[in-house]
Order: sequence, then structure tokens, then C-alpha cells
Amino acid sequence: MAPSVAELTNNENETPTNTTFVGKPKLSYPFYFPYYDINEKFPPTQLFEHSDPGARADPAKPHLLTANTTAREISPYIGTEITGIQISQLSKEGLDELALFAAERKVLLFRDQDFKDIGPERQIEIARHFGPIQRHPTSGNVKGYPEFHVVYRDPEHDHFRDYRGRDRASGVSWHSDISYEKQPPSTTFFFILDQPGVGGDTLFLSQVEAYKRLSPEFQKRLEGLRAVHSAVEQAAFSERRGGPVRRVPVESEHPLVRQHPVTGEKALYVNQGFTRRIVGFKQEESDLILNFLFDHIAKGADFQIRATYAPGTVVVWDNRVTAHSATVDFENTILRHAVRLTPQAEVPIPA
Ligand code: SIN
Repeated sequence: MAPSVAELTNNENETPTNTTFVGKPKLSYPFYFPYYDINEKFPPTQLFEHSDPGARADPAKPHLLTANTTAREISPYIGTEITGIQISQLSKEGLDELALFAAERKVLLFRDQDFKDIGPERQIEIARHFGPIQRHPTSGNVKGYPEFHVVYRDPEHDHFRDYRGRDRASGVSWHSDISYEKQPPSTTFFFILDQPGVGGDTLFLSQVEAYKRLSPEFQKRLEGLRAVHSAVEQAAFSERRGGPVRRVPVESEHPLVRQHPVTGEKALYVNQGFTRRIVGFKQEESDLILNFLFDHIAKGADFQIRATYAPGTVVVWDNRVTAHSATVDFENTILRHAVRLTPQAEVPIPA
């Protein structure tokens, strides 16, 4: 049964007590506190037929962009900020148009969403419109709702432990979500529940523009190549810190350059988070090319944006044509709490 609004919003008695904030962390939505059952197991992900909602959309987007909507481009290649829409109110046609708009603009920032109005059932219903929602093999989820991937930071519970610390000079960690799946995700939803007053932005980049910046000769050399994307290290990391491994970690081969099924745009499909080696290349050859590409996308500030949030922001991105990184520039005594729903899409189409 769907939780009531009172269950979703902050209630002093329901605020988790297993944190050591100086003063208690006052979660706006304790319902979404990360839940781990280390004995939880999921079956292997099954292949499925995917038909992209963006392909059904009216290109004029009359159900999404109405007279009440304002849409402001954040940069020419990527990112649009939108006000005057409640995602929870969108019709099926509006959601189709959202898929197309996200594919065109790569990242959409919807402001001032009323989470009390949405609730977990509707959030899941919306995300399922785009494809089956991945159940994350290692991250915190929401009790009873394994579809949610919870991003949460306090002194005892730090989603970003693998971003900061260890030997790394910077916490920036570019990735495309769960690209190791045979059918990686498309239109992804990230709901900002609590957010630092300053910091905790997400960096996004356009893999379409990153591809366009390469010379035609180099583009030709990359097309046709495939790379292995792996979940093995993520699972090992979770195991080392006593976290769950809910599914046997998978490795998939994907094209280095993929084509978007609706816009037809070509995009680089490599990310330092999960892409490990180019199939058929010797390791040094593969490292040379992949390191160049990782460096190329990471340095491309002219095809990146920094998405800033406030509680009530919902950011929607098309994972097939973007990469992103959290910015862990806030202390773990400052609450940041968000939940992601990650619908899976087609087997990547080679360019
Ligand atoms: C994610 O990697 O999906 C979350 C990004 C963030 O926490 O900013």
C-alpha cells in the first residue's frame, strides 16, 4: 500500500537515530533513508524488448511544454532548466515528450516539485514508463522499494566514501550509471530531497558533443570498436566494506560509439567508472585510447554543465548520451539526500 504523506515527510519520531550529527539530522523525507539487507539477493537481469517512449513523442511537445512552462538553456549543448511543470501530473503523452526532450537536451532540471504530491508509487510508475527499473546490486535502497537507489551522506553513512579519501586528489568520478548492464539505462530520474545550501552539485557532460570534437579520422577508428564495462569492482568494493552484493556482477561489451535510437545522434560510450578495456586490443593499447578518451571528456568544460539543486529539484538525464559526477565538496555533517530511479533501455546500438 502507498505510504501516506505523513509517512513521507519529516516526523520527529521517525527520524533515524543511528546518526551522530551534532544535533540530530533532520531528514525532510526519512521514509527514503537508505536501507541495506546484506542477505537480499536479486536474480540476474533478463533481456527485454525496448521501445523508446521518445519515438512516440510529438516533436512540438504540447503535453510537456505548455503556456505555464518556462525553459531556460543552461549551455548550448546540454542542460535546460524548467519551471511550471509538476512531473507527477504529466500524462503518458507528456512523459513521451519528456523522453524526447531529455534526449535532445541531455539533462533537464525540473524545479519546485511537490514530493508529497508524488510519493514512491507514482515515482516508480513514472520511471517505469521509460523501461524496467534497475535494482541496484550494491547501493542503499528504500525498505520495501528496491527500485530506489539512495544517495545519502552523514558521518556514519557516506554514499561517497569511494569518491573521497584513499589515494585520490580529487573526488570527481565521471561515469554513466550502471553501464555494465546488457541494457544500460536511458531517461533517469534523480529526486533531491535534502541539499546543502552551497555545494553538492552534479557535473554533467554531453557525450554527443565530446564525440563531435574528435577528428573524422579518429571517429572512424573508434566506430566498430567495443569495450568491456564491468560491475566487478563495484561489487568487490561493497563486499570489502560489509555491504550487499545482491547479484552476481556482470560484464558487458558495448560499442565505443553508440547511436541514440530516437535522435540518431552518435555519442561516445566510455566512462572511467565502469569501462575497463577495448575488446581485441592489448592492454597497453586499450589503456592508451581509453585514457585519452577519459581525459578528453573530463577536460571538456565547454560541453559540461554544473547542475545546482535545491530541495524539490528533479533532474532527468539521458544516460545514453551523458556522463556525470557528483561534487563532494560538502562536509559529511551537512545533509545531502537524494533518490534515483534508473529505467533500462535498449541494447546499445553501434554507430
Ligand atoms: C549519481 O551518480 O547517480 C548521483 C550523482 C550525485 O550524487 O550528484
